[in-house]
Amino acid sequence: MKRVFSGVQPTGNIHLGNYLGALRQFVELQNNHECLYCIVDQHAITVNQDPKELREHILDVAALYLAIGVDPKRSIVFVQSDVPAHTELSWILTCNSYTGELYRMTQFKSKSHNKESAPAGLLMYPVLMAADILLYDTDIVPVGNDQKQHIELCRNIATRINNTRKKTFVIPDGRFMKEGARVMALDDPTQKMSKSAPNIHSRISLLDEPNKIKKSIMKATTDSDGIIKFDIENKPGVSNLLNIYSVLSGESIADIEAKYEGKGYGDFKKDLVEITVSTLAPIKERYEEIRHSDELIEILKDGSERANAIADRTMKRVKDNFGLGLKK
Ligand code: TYM
Repeated sequence: MKRVFSGVQPTGNIHLGNYLGALRQFVELQNNHECLYCIVDQHAITVNQDPKELREHILDVAALYLAIGVDPKRSIVFVQSDVPAHTELSWILTCNSYTGELYRMTQFKSKSHNKESAPAGLLMYPVLMAADILLYDTDIVPVGNDQKQHIELCRNIATRINNTRKKTFVIPDGRFMKEGARVMALDDPTQKMSKSAPNIHSRISLLDEPNKIKKSIMKATTDSDGIIKFDIENKPGVSNLLNIYSVLSGESIADIEAKYEGKGYGDFKKDLVEITVSTLAPIKERYEEIRHSDELIEILKDGSERANAIADRTMKRVKDNFGLGLKK
């Protein structure tokens, strides 16, 4: 069975972009793959976090994984910092990375605002991500489009090491959805939907109340044409809403365009509100059931045990190939 690894940062406001780009793949893949789904808390501390909030957000993401349908009997669900080998491997990969390739990462450029005093953790972020993936001999990494460059870097580091010493790592492939891999902000369709944008109406969080969902969609930026048609370049707002509509309803964009021919944005948006609310309601319900349960903690403890067992085997091989420590 092929192995799958992915992670989400526990930084609050998990949104429709995270769901459509990455999370819904998690559920689909667990049927015929060996899956590990991680809450990447060490990535979250590349920017300042309140310790109490971070702990809560870790459990929020874990509960959301289960609420969307990740099954802990089939998939390993765990917290990154509960498996020390992630940072251990990260150092070994750091010694095989070039500063130039790290400075070229677009996420680093945008998060550091090109300041010289940017936190070094932001620069090293993709190396830790590579460690997450390579530690489990991962074949497939389901993510949104914004992670493409990071996956490419991971592949490059792994290939470099395989070519210069014994074959050490499995080379992973990213897995991206055709629709939903890049959900845009509702208030500005030139920006991707994000957890941290100050305007709460820029995103739909998976746990939003129906009224908030309605407000955000009804306010969403469109244009003055009044025509429901997919055209990313000239109609980015409408195209983004069409994408969301299509993925959530399972209807093709062409069918949706035909359905709303001659109708206005108001009708289209009202229906999109309904589809979104009815998709998210069962997720929210399941989330509320599990979020404060002992079961959740047990699932994470069991997950970290299973993840540590795989990680320890990889680290033995890696250390042998690098000549680190005493032979065991
Ligand atoms: P994070 O927490 O920012 O996002 C979680 C997942 O959601 C996807 N995503 C989106 N997809 C579509 N449209 C959007 N607007 C959108 N915004 C976010 C992301 O691509 C991601 O798949 N670096 C990762 C976390 C990570 C990771 C890993 C992922 C750390 N180690 C190893 C895979 C494998 C991140 O920042 O995700």
